[in-house]
Amino acid sequence: MSKRVYNFSAGPATLPLEVLEQAGRDIVNFQDSGMGLIEMSHRSKQFMAVAAETERLLRELMEIPDNYKVLFLQGGASSQFFMVPMNLLTSGKKATYLNTGVWSKKAIKEAKLFGEVEVAFSSEEQKFCRVPTASEYTVTPESEYLYMVSNNTIYGTQFPTFPETDHVLISDMSSDILSRKIDVSKFGLIFAGAQKNMGPAGVTVVIIRDDLLDRTPEQVPTMLRYKTHADKDSMFNTPPCFAIYAVGEVLKWVKKQGGVAAMEERNKEKAALLYAAIDATDFYKGHAEKSSRSLMNISFNLPTPELEAKFVAEAAALGFNGLKGHRSIGGCRASIYNAFPRQGVVDLVAFMAEFEKKNS
Ligand SMILES: Cc1ncc(COP(=O)(O)O)c(C=O)c1O
Repeated sequence: MSKRVYNFSAGPATLPLEVLEQAGRDIVNFQDSGMGLIEMSHRSKQFMAVAAETERLLRELMEIPDNYKVLFLQGGASSQFFMVPMNLLTSGKKATYLNTGVWSKKAIKEAKLFGEVEVAFSSEEQKFCRVPTASEYTVTPESEYLYMVSNNTIYGTQFPTFPETDHVLISDMSSDILSRKIDVSKFGLIFAGAQKNMGPAGVTVVIIRDDLLDRTPEQVPTMLRYKTHADKDSMFNTPPCFAIYAVGEVLKWVKKQGGVAAMEERNKEKAALLYAAIDATDFYKGHAEKSSRSLMNISFNLPTPELEAKFVAEAAALGFNGLKGHRSIGGCRASIYNAFPRQGVVDLVAFMAEFEKKNS
């Protein structure tokens, strides 16, 4: 195999090599069954055990209370933008959204199809370089839920703490699930596409408090009701078998690393190395305000777009892959999810110093 590059992609993103190698073997012959994992019936005993173990591990690692259901759905995190209001925003009622980037804007657009939307905070005029503090917004008492994006993948901002609220709190955790310890009991619903911190694209995890399952209006189609999937343990129809299996393998790996608390420590250390390199010079400039900095995605600029293009190209030639920033804000972005190795950050920091010396 050719040398593995350092993959800074925002998602799908780097996965632990041991998970990829195991998946490669299991795709061909799963547990000596003479059959590949992706050829097996989702109702087979073997696959049912895989799905149950994936759910059990997620519950263990995130300490998910018993009154929450864990669902493995399809349609990407983007389908949750409409499934949330379709199931939880009763016609004529209101929901409150915090607009911290493109992913919240898309969710706001969909929510407006179902009810009234109150945007209680927006950092759009500041190019989404920050998330709000609690004192910067209020939530109307009659609002049915408060919706926020925990980590804003494009801009590299992250809520350092979650809102303390009596409202049903809903969070898109697509780009930081399992990266830090959270108290699930504070949330009504959490969702995350798997393809950043949990595994391959193809499955979206939804963690929903069970009292919310009965709010769905009658006219919502069967497949789009959370309760349909909750009642059938995500086996109402053929689930994304391979993605669920791979998430399970990533969860085993997370557990082996010491669990979510250990991941959080590592993530803080890795991010601190990169932010220290950015703060040490005027050549690199972080996009996010310091108090809103993400541990997962680090977006930064160089003095000119030409230098940014040169930086990305020279880095790629040396095996630092995927450092180009999102097209909506340009610049550079290093995504350093759970599975991204510390050495890759150390080597990038060294490359950044070298590049600055040659180009400033
Ligand atoms: C925070 C966040 N939410 C939602 C999405 C959309 O996910 P999907 O492509 O699975 O629909 C992304 C994709 O990058 C994201 O970063």
